[in-house]
Amino acid sequence: MVRLSATKAETFNYGVVRQFAIMTVVWGIVGMLVGVIIAAQLLWPQLNFDIPWLTYGRLRPLHTNAVIFAFGGSALFAASYYVVQRTCQARLFCGALAAFTFWGWQLIIVGAAITLPLGITTSKEYAELEWPIDILITLVWVAYAIVFFGTIVKRKAKHIYVANWFFGSYILTIAVLHIVNNIELPVSMWKSYSAYAGVQDAMVQWWYGHNAVGFFLTTSFLGMMYYFIPKQAQRPIYSYRLSIVHFWALAFTYMWAGPHHLLYTSLPDWTQSLGMVFSLILLAPSWGGMINGIMTLSGAWYKLRTDPILKFMVVSLSFYGMSTFEGSMMSIRTVNALSHYTDWTIGHVHSGALGWVAMITFGMLYYLIPRLWGREKMYSTKLIEVHFWIATIGVVLYIASMWIAGVMQGLMWRATEPDGSLTYSFVESVKSTFPFYAIRLAGGLLYLSGMCVMAYNVFKTVVGEKAVNPEIPSDSVVVPPTLVTAAAGA
Ligand code: HEM
Ligand code: HEM
Repeated sequence: MVRLSATKAETFNYGVVRQFAIMTVVWGIVGMLVGVIIAAQLLWPQLNFDIPWLTYGRLRPLHTNAVIFAFGGSALFAASYYVVQRTCQARLFCGALAAFTFWGWQLIIVGAAITLPLGITTSKEYAELEWPIDILITLVWVAYAIVFFGTIVKRKAKHIYVANWFFGSYILTIAVLHIVNNIELPVSMWKSYSAYAGVQDAMVQWWYGHNAVGFFLTTSFLGMMYYFIPKQAQRPIYSYRLSIVHFWALAFTYMWAGPHHLLYTSLPDWTQSLGMVFSLILLAPSWGGMINGIMTLSGAWYKLRTDPILKFMVVSLSFYGMSTFEGSMMSIRTVNALSHYTDWTIGHVHSGALGWVAMITFGMLYYLIPRLWGREKMYSTKLIEVHFWIATIGVVLYIASMWIAGVMQGLMWRATEPDGSLTYSFVESVKSTFPFYAIRLAGGLLYLSGMCVMAYNVFKTVVGEKAVNPEIPSDSVVVPPTLVTAAAGA
C-alpha cells in the first residue's frame, strides 16, 4: 500500500494550480458576462450605445476567446498540472517555467481583451488574435509542453495514467494547429494576412476550428473526466481498457472531421463526404468515453442523491453524449442543409460548452479547491447544490430555445409558394426568433448567476479555517501499488 503523506503532498507544486484555479472562476464570470451582454444585444441592438468597442461584431469574439481560452484554458492548465503531479508522483518539472505559463497566459488574455474590442482581428474564428499575440501563445505553449512532458519524464510511478494521454495529445495537437493555421504575413504591428487563400484558407481554418473543439474542448476535458470522476466517486474507472481504445479512436478520428463545417461550399465534394463519414464514426469513441465515465458510478449511484459535485460530473457526461450525438447528426448533409446558419448550431455549441465543458470544470473545481487550500471541504455544500440546479435550468433554457429557434429559422428560410417565391422574408424569421432570444437570455443570466454563487463559495472556502488536522491533507489516498494508476489513486 502506498500512502501519500503530508510532506509528500507538500512537495507538489500547488501554487501554480491554485493560481489557475482562481483565474478559471474569474474568467468564467467575465466571459459569461460578455455572453449575456451579446445575448441581450441580439434582443436590443441599441445596447451597443453606438460605441464601436461595444458592437456585437467585436464583443462576440471577445466572448468566445474569454470562455474558451481564458476560462477553459485556465481550467485545463490547473487540471493538467494537478493530475500530472499526482499520477506521476513527481513535482512539476521546472517551477519557473510553470510560473511563466501562468503569467504568459494571463498576458495573452489581457492582450485579447484589449485588441478585440479595438477591432484588431485576423477574422479567423477562434484564431482572431494578431501575430504578436500569436507568437506569445506559441512561447507559452512550448513552455507548457516542456513542463508537462518534463514531469512525465521524471515520474516515479511506472505507468502513465490515461488522463495524461488525453492531456498530452491536447497539448501536442493544439501546438500544431495553432502554428499551421496562423502562418501569416505581418504588414504592420497589428495587421497580418494569412498565408492561405480561398478554399485552402477555409479548409485549414476548419481543420483548425474543428480540432480546436476536438482537442481544446473535448480531449483535454476527457482527461479531466478520467481523473476527477473516479476520485469523486471513489471507484476505479469502469474499464481501463476501454479508456485506451477511447483515446486512440478519438485522436485518430477527430482529425478528419473538419469539413463538416464546410458542407455545400466550394470545398471538393469528396472532402465533404470524408468529413461527414468521419463525423458519423466519431460517435462511437465519443459514446464509448461517455459510457466509461458514467459506468464508473456502478455500485455508487446512491451517492448522486447527496453529492452535488458528482451530480455536476454525471450531468456533464450526459451533455457530452447528447452534444456529440447531435454533432454527428448535424454532419449529415441533408440535416446540415437545415441546421447551418441557424441558431441550431448555437444550441449545439452551448450544449457542449455549458453542459459538458463548464459543468465538468465546476465539478473539478469543487473537488480541487478544498484540497489545494488544505480545507476539509467547500464552505457550503448547500450552495454547490444551488449552483447545480441554477446551472442545469439555465443550460436547458439556453439550448431548448436555440433548438426551436434554429429549426424554425431553417424551415422558414426554405418554405416556398407554388410559384417558387419565398413564403417568408428574412426579417420575418428574425421577428419570430425574438421570444426565443429572450428565453436564451434568461438561461444565460441563470447560468451566470450560478457562476457568481460558485465564486462566493470559493472565496469563503479559501479565506476560511484550515482543516482541523492539517497533517492529514484531505487528498491523501491509499492505493494498492498494482492498481496505483488504474484506480486513478495517486
Ligand atoms: C452565460 C453563459 C453564456 C451565454 C449567455 C452565451 C451567449 C452566447 C451568444 C449570444 C453567442 C452568439 C450567438 C450568435 O452569434 O448567434 C455565443 C457564441 C458562442 N459561445 Fe457562448 N455563451 C455563454 C457561455 C459560453 C461558454 C461557457 C462557452 C464555451 C466554453 C461558449 C462558447 C461559445 C462559442 C464557441 C460561440 C460561437 C458559436 C458559433 O460561432 O457557432 N459560450 N454565446
Ligand atoms: C462527435 C462529436 C461532434 C460532432 C460530429 C460535431 C459536429 C458539428 C457540426 C456538424 C457542426 C455544425 C457545422 C456548421 O453547420 O457550421 C458543429 C458546430 C460546432 N460544434 Fe460540434 N460536433 C461535435 C461535438 C462538439 C462538442 C462536444 C462541442 C463543444 C464542446 C462542439 C462545439 C462546436 C462548435 C463551437 C461549433 C460551431 C463552430 C462555428 O461555426 O463557429 N461540438 N459541430
